[in-house]
Amino acid sequence: MLLTRLTLLLSAVLAVRAFVVNEGTTCTVYPESLTHFGKPVDDTPSILHAFELCGKNGSVILTEGAFHIDQVMNTTGLQNCDVELHGEMIWSTNVPYWLSHSYSVTYANLSTAWFFGGENVTFKGFGKGRFNGNGQVWYDENRNNSNQPGRPIAFTVLNAKNLWMDGVTWSQAQFWHSFISHSQNVTMSNIYMSSLSNSTWFTVNTDGTDMWNSKDISYYNWTVTGGDDCIAIKGNSTNVHAKNITCIHTHGMPVGSVGQLPGFPDYVENVLYEDVTLINSTNGAWVKAWQGQNKAVTTNGGSGGGGGGWAKNITWRNFHLQNVGTPISVTECVYGHDPSVCDTSEYQLSNLTWENITGTAHFDIIASIHCGAKVPCPGLKFIDVNIETWNTSLGKPSLPPLYLCANIMDQNSTGIPCNGFAPYNMPNVLYADHPDLQTTKTLNIVVPEAQRDNCLFPTPGLDGCYAGDPN
Ligand SMILES: *[C@@H]1O[C@H](CO)[C@@H](O)[C@H](O)[C@H]1NC(C)=O
Ligand SMILES: *[C@@H]1O[C@H](CO)[C@@H](O)[C@H](O)[C@H]1NC(C)=O
Ligand SMILES: *[C@@H]1O[C@H](CO)[C@@H](O)[C@H](O)[C@H]1NC(C)=O
Ligand SMILES: *[C@@H]1O[C@H](CO)[C@@H](O)[C@H](O)[C@H]1NC(C)=O
Ligand SMILES: *[C@@H]1O[C@H](CO)[C@@H](O)[C@H](O)[C@H]1NC(C)=O
Ligand SMILES: *[C@@H]1O[C@H](CO)[C@@H](O)[C@H](O)[C@H]1NC(C)=O
Ligand SMILES: *[C@@H]1O[C@H](CO)[C@@H](O)[C@H](O)[C@H]1NC(C)=O
Ligand SMILES: *[C@@H]1O[C@H](CO)[C@@H](O)[C@H](O)[C@H]1NC(C)=O
Ligand SMILES: *[C@@H]1O[C@H](CO)[C@@H](O)[C@H](O)[C@H]1NC(C)=O
Ligand SMILES: *[C@@H]1O[C@H](CO)[C@@H](O)[C@H](O)[C@H]1NC(C)=O
Ligand SMILES: *[C@@H]1O[C@H](CO)[C@@H](O)[C@H](O)[C@H]1NC(C)=O
Ligand SMILES: *[C@@H]1O[C@H](CO)[C@@H](O)[C@H](O)[C@H]1NC(C)=O
Repeated sequence: MLLTRLTLLLSAVLAVRAFVVNEGTTCTVYPESLTHFGKPVDDTPSILHAFELCGKNGSVILTEGAFHIDQVMNTTGLQNCDVELHGEMIWSTNVPYWLSHSYSVTYANLSTAWFFGGENVTFKGFGKGRFNGNGQVWYDENRNNSNQPGRPIAFTVLNAKNLWMDGVTWSQAQFWHSFISHSQNVTMSNIYMSSLSNSTWFTVNTDGTDMWNSKDISYYNWTVTGGDDCIAIKGNSTNVHAKNITCIHTHGMPVGSVGQLPGFPDYVENVLYEDVTLINSTNGAWVKAWQGQNKAVTTNGGSGGGGGGWAKNITWRNFHLQNVGTPISVTECVYGHDPSVCDTSEYQLSNLTWENITGTAHFDIIASIHCGAKVPCPGLKFIDVNIETWNTSLGKPSLPPLYLCANIMDQNSTGIPCNGFAPYNMPNVLYADHPDLQTTKTLNIVVPEAQRDNCLFPTPGLDGCYAGDPN
């Protein structure tokens, strides 16, 4: 009886969608290529069908083998659904299709190839499930541009609650590997990501992950090789924990960018990054905020600055750095760099802690911390920060390590050995041969005369320390 029903159901389903096998609440998806003599066929309809049938109180199992993804997918609104990926999902190289069909994620006019979300959802890859974005076509087509409209984020968690993703590998992501937006209680563990270009064009914007408007988010056991931020915490993020993360060739662990859009303040609170290894990365433990005045920019969403907000209680702990461009930094003029507005930020930072940070800096700059003149930072702390220059580590001559500071409240009790003034327009990336930190160099930062003042050890209230346009 049961068998008959099953067989009927099976044949009915098989007739419509060749390769979803539906048994009770479980949908098993097989690659369409199996019925097409190995020829790649779009698996998107089968996968979407499986989520329709089994996305509520069910399981969706993608078997071993190669799944070809030729279309955007929106699998949100799942409930009590367990997803397994045993094989590889391969996104098509049809660049014009993706440029015109990717879903908008709202943030900075970016878009995605896949929205995934719901309540009480697991996504398990068992260390073998893989997303292959076929990124090389994107790196070549993008030609080093930043945030190309329509270039899709590989995987976006949207409107999720109680979601656990484990054991998934990304290779050659189209753009950011992943994004968590408007979600709560999401954990992503045992994640491997790697995107490298084999041409003269860089991978640009292949962030490991970003989060926005979300809370209670954890990242455990990640290894990311990419060409941009490793784990970036954007606006309206609360209670974030990243632990045991290795980042190679990235832009490190930033809070930001924040403060970009007027009318949409960015609040960030309770972030802990710990047990992090950063190798050959441009930046380390940092905050990137926008200036206070909105200005047109060619990248990052059309214009930026004046968004305001605050970030507080952020900790970077147990970091080991190997050859990092700017190990520790705070900028309040990210991406803008128009000197007439650079020191106008009203983005308030407080209670930032850098603890047990060791290893090597590529240049002689260990830290560059420029808090906005209008919003000096209270509660900054350095505890056991011990970084040497790359040259020193190689036994070569080196300039003395620089700790550049500006507008830090109670500076003498922060533990930061300030010995220079941090310019408001410090470049985010300090070397020209982006993204490889291959040559050994010393860099002598020239601080403009106008900014020198006696700001090294500002008194509370900052009298005599202000060094820019007072408006
Ligand atoms: C995605 O699906 C959800 C339903 O789960 C729907 O509300 C939403 O509008 C869809 N988004 C897009 C971009 O199609
Ligand atoms: C999700 O799980 C929680 C805890 O088990 C339960 O209270 C809640 O009803 C579940 N949500 C849905 C949509 O079933
Ligand atoms: C958070 O999600 C996990 C699944 O990843 C679940 O086990 C846990 O109960 C959730 N926590 C709360 C407070 O709902
Ligand atoms: C670069 O990667 C692409 C896509 O994987 C491949 O088709 C191409 O042959 C590779 N080129 C080189 C020079 O390895
Ligand atoms: C940290 O994560 C890596 C995978 O990225 C794993 O191999 C390693 O065992 C983890 N270490 C600890 C202490 O959990
Ligand atoms: C991290 O990796 C270690 C070593 O493989 C493992 O014991 C631990 O359970 C992992 N943590 C999580 C959250 O999966
Ligand atoms: C952050 O949340 C606040 C409400 O708490 C909202 O006013 C603001 O627009 C949000 N910012 C962004 C960038 O979404
Ligand atoms: C600061 O954030 C940590 C998590 O990183 C949290 O445990 C702690 O309670 C927060 N402190 C305050 C005062 O909110
Ligand atoms: C400092 O961080 C390193 C990792 O970089 C870790 O091995 C060490 O145990 C940490 N020290 C303390 C006192 O936690
Ligand atoms: C900063 O931390 C101190 C001491 O933990 C606390 O009293 C203060 O409220 C915090 N301030 C902010 C803005 O988080
Ligand atoms: C901070 O330390 C410097 C150098 O030791 C000293 O000149 C200055 O007076 C101190 N400032 C305060 C406010 O204690
Ligand atoms: C880091 O860069 C150095 C110098 O180019 C290189 O020898 C090393 O292999 C790189 N390490 C990793 C893990 O990529």
